Amino acid sequence: MSQSFRRKWKDNDTMSSLNQEYQKYICRSRKSLKLYHRALQVMAGGVSHNLRYFAPYPCYLARAEGARFWDVDGNEYLDFWMGHYLNILGHTPEPILSALEKQVRQGIQWGIVHELQIELAEIVQRLIPSAEKVRFCCSGTEAVIYAQRLARASTSRQKFIKMEGSWHGAGTHSATIDNPDLSQGKRGGSCEDAIQNTILVRFNDVQQAIDRIREHADDLAAVIMEPILGEGGFIPAERKFLEAIREETNRAGALLIFDEIITGFRVGLSGAQGLYNIRPDLTTLGKILGGGMPIGAVVGRADIMELCSPTANLPEYKKTLIGGGTFSCAPLCMRAGIAMLRYLEENAQKIYPYLEAAGNQIRTGIEQAFARYGIAAKCTGIGSLFMTHFPKIKLEELKDSHTLAVDCDLEKREKELKIRLLNKGVFVMHGGGAISMAHTPADLAIALEKVEEVAKEMAEDQVGRRQAASCCLEEAVLKS
Ligand SMILES: Cc1ncc(COP(=O)(O)O)c(C=O)c1O
Repeated sequence: MSQSFRRKWKDNDTMSSLNQEYQKYICRSRKSLKLYHRALQVMAGGVSHNLRYFAPYPCYLARAEGARFWDVDGNEYLDFWMGHYLNILGHTPEPILSALEKQVRQGIQWGIVHELQIELAEIVQRLIPSAEKVRFCCSGTEAVIYAQRLARASTSRQKFIKMEGSWHGAGTHSATIDNPDLSQGKRGGSCEDAIQNTILVRFNDVQQAIDRIREHADDLAAVIMEPILGEGGFIPAERKFLEAIREETNRAGALLIFDEIITGFRVGLSGAQGLYNIRPDLTTLGKILGGGMPIGAVVGRADIMELCSPTANLPEYKKTLIGGGTFSCAPLCMRAGIAMLRYLEENAQKIYPYLEAAGNQIRTGIEQAFARYGIAAKCTGIGSLFMTHFPKIKLEELKDSHTLAVDCDLEKREKELKIRLLNKGVFVMHGGGAISMAHTPADLAIALEKVEEVAKEMAEDQVGRRQAASCCLEEAVLKS
């Protein structure tokens, strides 16, 4: 067995109760453990997306349906990760399945234009207020790279302002600095240019945003932001924050880019920009847009989007390369995306109120469950999105979202809450996730019941931490 793997969770997770939870998990996920060790032989860290690793090792899926998935050991989980928040109708929903089945017979990948891409673009144009023109690509990361490139070309400027705690995918310029701890540092493989040209602003800090935009106005290409902070805490922007940024970017001649890769079609049919009634110059979309298939899109003002047109009559220095993308507009992705957006459009009156009510119920229920056991927890979010935080300071002292994001006990959220809920059959990411239409009121009640049990256990643990348990069970499993 790999020594480094054992050391990873044995040394880091010194809390004995955590060790006990890991042992419980190992007992119920022996096949997953074996698969993980196989994966380590062929994949760096055993994964192809670091977020999918969690301690002591991830469970490997066998199938998923509705609000649940089953792992290779036969365990059933109530899923709130929902494929990186995108399965808004649940896993394998009928409208998408039948669309894909139809398309598979007609052609999987063509690499030549077809009507489906026009149809999906038309729906996007109809639903997203600022989408005068649409260009599809294969992932959210790509969409952000292209949006930033368009912003540079259109303004002939270099700098970007982004928000602390935001995540805009793994592109070099978007991922270089993404949280306050990294603001002074570098990620491996980042480049000086990206660091020099990225300026951070505290989310919802109106004055700082105004100051920074004015300070860098001469060379500011755009402010890029999630109107509702995503993985950085599911924190909605205050209206005045978005309004100030819109006004100041206009004044500075800089663009406003909304990254709506999570919020697009989730917080409402017209995304967060519809909710706030703020019109960005460019928007990036992904996730739900693809109906479960890989997709990204950059959409926005026609005059900016035209910079990437092959037939635009422009000087060379303005012509902007978007794609490549062997798989862009792959018919399977377009077909699934059309099926998804049509379904959402036709059923919007039912879907969004249900998700909103379910989200409110979960957020309130989680906070109340922890409060009953004397544990300070805050559950943020909007609509169907929720995230649990364990602030290090008192709840009453929480002034702003920044404090929440920075002063949160990540160990408690990312490890303890995660593994405890996992052992009770509930799969969360960052202490929460996204509710889908497949989550019934009974499912929500089960989730809250499990959170209540976890809160009780955590409270008991705070009273007296148990003796550290050895990890030898793991070795026994591997030998068996
Ligand atoms: C707000 C936001 N932007 C961009 C991305 C990157 O998208 P993708 O993972 O499809 O590359 C993500 C992914 O989680 C995201 O949440």
